[in-house]
Order: sequence, then structure tokens, then C-alpha cells
Amino acid sequence: MPALVLLGAQWGDEGKGKATDLLGGSVDYVVRYQGGNNAGHTVVVGDQKYALHLLPSGILSPECVPVIGNGVVVDPAVLLSELSGLNERGVDTSKLVISGNAHLITPYHQTIDKVTERFLGKRKIGTTGRGIGPAYADKINRVGIRVQDLFDESILRQKVDAALQDKNQILVKIFNRRAISTDQVVEEYLGYAEQIRGYVADTTLLLNNALDAGKVVLMEGGQGTLLDVDHGTYPFVTSSNPTSGGACTGTGVGPTKITRVIGILKAYTTRVGSGPFPTELLDEDGEKLRTIGGEFGVTTGRNRRCGWFDAVIARYATRVNGLTDFFLTKLDVLTGWERIPVCVAYDIDGRRVEELPYNQTDFHHAKPVYEYLPGWSEDISKAKTVADLPKNAQAYVKALEEMSGAPISAIGVGPGRTETIEVNSFL
Ligand code: GDP
Ligand code: IMO
Ligand code: MG
Repeated sequence: MPALVLLGAQWGDEGKGKATDLLGGSVDYVVRYQGGNNAGHTVVVGDQKYALHLLPSGILSPECVPVIGNGVVVDPAVLLSELSGLNERGVDTSKLVISGNAHLITPYHQTIDKVTERFLGKRKIGTTGRGIGPAYADKINRVGIRVQDLFDESILRQKVDAALQDKNQILVKIFNRRAISTDQVVEEYLGYAEQIRGYVADTTLLLNNALDAGKVVLMEGGQGTLLDVDHGTYPFVTSSNPTSGGACTGTGVGPTKITRVIGILKAYTTRVGSGPFPTELLDEDGEKLRTIGGEFGVTTGRNRRCGWFDAVIARYATRVNGLTDFFLTKLDVLTGWERIPVCVAYDIDGRRVEELPYNQTDFHHAKPVYEYLPGWSEDISKAKTVADLPKNAQAYVKALEEMSGAPISAIGVGPGRTETIEVNSFL
């Protein structure tokens, strides 16, 4: 039975948390497949607002089983504090399942993340400083520590010791920092083991059995397509695969099981951290989008860079993810502009380019070619159907759909669960 993927079509913060939560009530499992607590997913239920970092947004739907897949990097201290924070607010988290194969973020990953950024100076990536990149680097380097290692002290000690051999040399000799002791890390991490043990399982088997039994599995991406380490604006990316292929490797669910790939698409564009952003606005309009859209990071509190909608990026997201649908978010934020520019192509050194350039230098030189669509001034936050939207808002959605290459199956008109126009069913 169907597995659905829900992922960011731009540079993250498109509203994945809200979309996942909305679908969470109708699916059996919600699984995070990559990233870690670099994510910040906001879910608004009634008058309650939740900020989730590591836990799948499905955790707020009582019927749904939330899963942390093997592709995620887990900071156990963050995991436990996020769980207790939710418990204090009356959310039942007991159904959570965590893959024993997921890798752990350790204090040395966070230290290396921060000092590397500091040494990069002006060339820094602008990471979230959560140790994500170094933890994935260790995974690929085969010196990572996995969740299952917490339950075998001797293996944990050997692995931490091996991982720290070269890291301590680098920390002390290159970065002028203090060495990290194996004992300290092992002691701290053994302290988490018993609190986490009850959640750990073979999540690949669990999810495939569930699919065979006709259950519905929703795979929730963190970050977004342009932050993908393979398909994004490298090197200004995260260190995992938020694109749809990552949903397979990060869960152990094969591509033949996936029936829908839903791209979450903001009605304009934002980006946090460094890197090229052709439609970025450094003027009053950018400030207005930031203020009205509340574009401040959920994880780091940084101002998000804001700009107009970029159809070249949306088309690219359709292509590299095989998107079947879009969920357009934050249309309400665009209320009040007389006309709304939409980037339809790039001008790169005098050439008109319709597709995202694979060459980094070209992308750095890309200037947006805008078409101007008429705006609207009516409040749209109560709209329940497309027909409730002003004509110009309907035309804006239609134009984005035509430019982006996949149907827009839902439209967000406010942060709340119910502030959504459902155009086509996802299930
Ligand atoms: P995520 O990382 O993709 O889950 O997105 P974030 O939670 O970081 O940022 C999206 C923000 O937009 C959150 O504050 C959401 O509550 C809010 N949001 C989501 N959809 C809508 C929408 O349709 N309209 C408005 N006004 N806000 C929305
Ligand atoms: P959600 O899931 C927006 C960005 C960081 C930085 C780059 C690398 O809420 O959409 P990292 O710490 O991952 O090594 O940082 O990626 N970044 C995000 N930007 N939303 C996110 O998550 C992000 N997670 C990472 O700002 O530019
Ligand atoms: Mg976010």
C-alpha cells in the first residue's frame, strides 16, 4: 500500500511541519528520513504552537506512529529534551520508534561544526551548528556511532576512541581547542542508553511490514531540494539528501512502494545561511515579506533571507524529485501587493536560461527575469475552496502551477491546520 513522500521544494522552511501534521491524521506512520535537529518544523494546532526539530511532525497526531528512520542523525540529548517538552504539554510520545541504525551526533561533532565555520570566515556555510555535517561525514567515513552502539559499552568505547583519534589531533593542533576524552563521551552517552532503549527497533522491517499490511506511510523530509548535498547549491547545502531518493535510503522502503511525492512550495522564496539566491530582495519588499511571513528561523532564530517566487527552482524540484503534487503554502502572506513579480527564467551574462544551471559560477551570476502578476487585497485566510479566493489569487496559483510542472493539490492560507484549501486528495 502507499508510501507518500513530503519534502521541501526550495531551501527549507516551506511549511513541511504544517503539511505533515495535516496529513498525519489520515496516515498510519510518519517517518523522518534524513537530517536531524537542524530542522525546525512549526505546527499550529488550535491555539497551541509546537516547534519540532528531530521528531517527525506526525507525533502530534494520536493515531499515528512517529518513526525516526536510519537516515537521520540523532542527538540524544535533544531527543530526550524534545520528548519531555512534549510530555509536559500533554502529548503522548510513547509510540515513537527509532532506527537502531540511525547515527548519533556527539559533542565532538558539534564542536567541529562550530570551529570549522569559524575558520571558514567569510566563506562559511552558515550551518545551524548542530553537528550535522561532521556526523554525516563520520557515517560516510565509517567511523560513526549508531543508536545500537549505546547498548554495548565495549563497542561504544572502541568506536568513540577510534573516532576521537584523529579528531583530537585536529582539534588541538589545527583549531587550538582542548582534546575531548573518550571516557567523558562514553559516560554521557551510556546515561542516555536506558532512556532510549525502549524506542529502538528495526524500522525498515516495521515500515515494510506495515506497507504490506495495507497501512499508509508518510515520509517527512527535513530541509529542502536546494539544500540537498547532491542536487542543491553545493557547497551551500546540508549534508544529507532531502530529495525523494533520500526517502528510500533513509528508511529502507523501496521506490516501487512510493505512490506520491509532494513538494511543499512557499508562494515566495526564503533561505537561511549563505549561498546564491537569485530572487533575494534586499529592499523594503524583502523586509515586508519577512515581517508579514514571520520569516525568522525556528532553530537558530536567524532572519530568513526573503525573495519572490522562483519558477526555475520549482521546475527543478519537480524534475529531481519526480514530484506528483505541490502543496503551496503562505499564499496569504502575499495579500496586499499591487503586483507580484515571479521569476520565470534567469539572465546569465546576457543569455536567457530556463533551467537551473548545473554550473555553480553560472548560478552565482543568475539574475531573475520577472513576469508581473496582478495582486489582491482581500483577506484570504478564511477561504475554504479555490472559488473563495479573489480572481487574481486564483490566477497567481494557476500561473505557478503551469510554470512549476505539477498540480497544486493544496493551498495554505494561514499557519493553522484548518487554514488550508484542499484541491485534490493526497490519499
Ligand atoms: P518547515 O521547516 O518547512 O516545517 O517550515 P517552518 O515551520 O520552519 O516555517 C514555516 C512557517 O510558516 C511556520 O511558522 C508555519 O507556522 C507557517 N506556515 C505554514 N503554512 C502557512 C500558511 O499557509 N500561511 C501562513 N501565514 N503561515 C504558514
Ligand atoms: P527545515 O527542515 C532552512 C541550512 C543552514 C545552512 C545549511 C547547512 O526547518 O526546513 P546544517 O546545519 O544543516 O549543516 O546547515 O542548511 N539549513 C536549513 N535552512 N531550513 C532547515 O530545515 C535547514 N536545515 C539546515 O541554514 O545554510
Ligand atoms: Mg523550518
